[in-house]
Amino acid sequence: MRAIHIVTTRLSSSFIRPVLLDFVSCSPLRQFSTPRRFICAASKVNGGGRSGYATPQLALHHFKEVSRLFGYEEVDFPVLETEALFIRKAGEEIRDQLYCFEDRGNRRVALRPELTPSLARLVIQKGKSVSLPLKWFAVGQCWRYERMTRGRRREHYQWNMDIIGVPEVTAEAELISSIMTFFKRIGITASDVGFKVSSRKVLQEFLKKYGVPEDLFGRVCFIIDKIEKIPIDEIKKELGFTGISDDAIEQLLQVFSVKSLDDLEDILGGAGEAIADMKQLFSLAEKFGYSEWIQFDASVVRGLAYYTGIVFEGFDREGKLRAICGGGRYDRLLSTYGGDDIPACGFGFGDAVIVELLKEKDLLPELGQEVENIVCALDKDLQGAAATVATALRDKGQTVDLVLESKPLKWVFKRAARVNARRLVLVGKTEWEVGSVSVKVLSSGEQFQVKLNDLE
Ligand code: HAM
Repeated sequence: MRAIHIVTTRLSSSFIRPVLLDFVSCSPLRQFSTPRRFICAASKVNGGGRSGYATPQLALHHFKEVSRLFGYEEVDFPVLETEALFIRKAGEEIRDQLYCFEDRGNRRVALRPELTPSLARLVIQKGKSVSLPLKWFAVGQCWRYERMTRGRRREHYQWNMDIIGVPEVTAEAELISSIMTFFKRIGITASDVGFKVSSRKVLQEFLKKYGVPEDLFGRVCFIIDKIEKIPIDEIKKELGFTGISDDAIEQLLQVFSVKSLDDLEDILGGAGEAIADMKQLFSLAEKFGYSEWIQFDASVVRGLAYYTGIVFEGFDREGKLRAICGGGRYDRLLSTYGGDDIPACGFGFGDAVIVELLKEKDLLPELGQEVENIVCALDKDLQGAAATVATALRDKGQTVDLVLESKPLKWVFKRAARVNARRLVLVGKTEWEVGSVSVKVLSSGEQFQVKLNDLE
């Protein structure tokens, strides 16, 4: 099997992209100006129903805007990775959801189900060449072979923000603040959405107290993560399979049903690290201004094995939808990929649930296409002149839909209405001979002739 060479290229001052040479050709840097509307092809595999998909760009636009507002740097990762990158020992659900196959070189590869492993690898590659902390964001498609339900797709866009190199709870507090900022920007309030927060250290402290082996940590986390999804007897049965005693299971379930820090402190018998972290987070939430959004809930553990400390998830208060977003601290992930551990935390935020929520709240605008000008030659011989006009306008930063064929005016007006054009710029023989064009402002009907150089 051939070795896989991974190199990291810095393609622009604000965009870091690792290139997995064996798998993915180095595509040119996509300019990340967000189109007002993008059409996404539907297929039976990715969930269908995505044609005319005007939704993501509202989310994608604000994902990126908010990340920049918080001073994060954009990173990008290969879509196709080695399967091994996503397989962790703990046997998470995500492993069974991989879109994986053998490539033509007999290598096991997978479409990425998440971005964090690629990010961890990039941090390791960068090594000491970068100064910490890193504040990175990424937005990209992920694939998971999930049962498709409302807000869960086999293909989704995921926004990630991660902080690498900060052990303090201030990092989690800022990450939650950025998510809250996103919600506010799209019109979602604290009465629509909340954040449940807890810490996996609660479980660590519990396991220690009951003498349960630490290596059961990951397994117990996945089971607890299902508390609100499957009947409690199933949870007990699964916990029983791990070898934890019936008594400890009862205690454990009691711990995970706790909704107040004081009660947790009582049960755990004192203020441990988990309690201290939570208290600091709640105090910072007040300072960042999102206290009314967050609440402690011990049942939140998140389903991924690598979280080690604070974990959080966004939820709709009506309880109709799956988690809107989720994340946490993963201080020990890097060493699982052969690097030195660096404290890190972050979140993933998919485009699917939020769109469902926006629909529920009637906050999803019908975004149509918009251009400033439609430029049209009135004569086939003037198509070159129309191209010159289009270029002149585009050079001035105006958006132009150039009519590329000879079409009757009726057709041009229809098209102008469809693309919401502001003006019609007609290139006719007489006007063009004196370097002018005819302009019709479509909203008012006002019509005038203007020299091309004066056309603003
Ligand atoms: P996750 O909890 O597996 O975490 O997913 C994060 C978010 O991605 C979910 O809350 C949801 O918004 C979205 N998501 C996941 N699967 C689907 C799906 N099938 N359809 C639609 N949306 C989905 C992670 O992926 C971590 N890597 C996040 C992270 C980044 N933690 C630290 N940094």
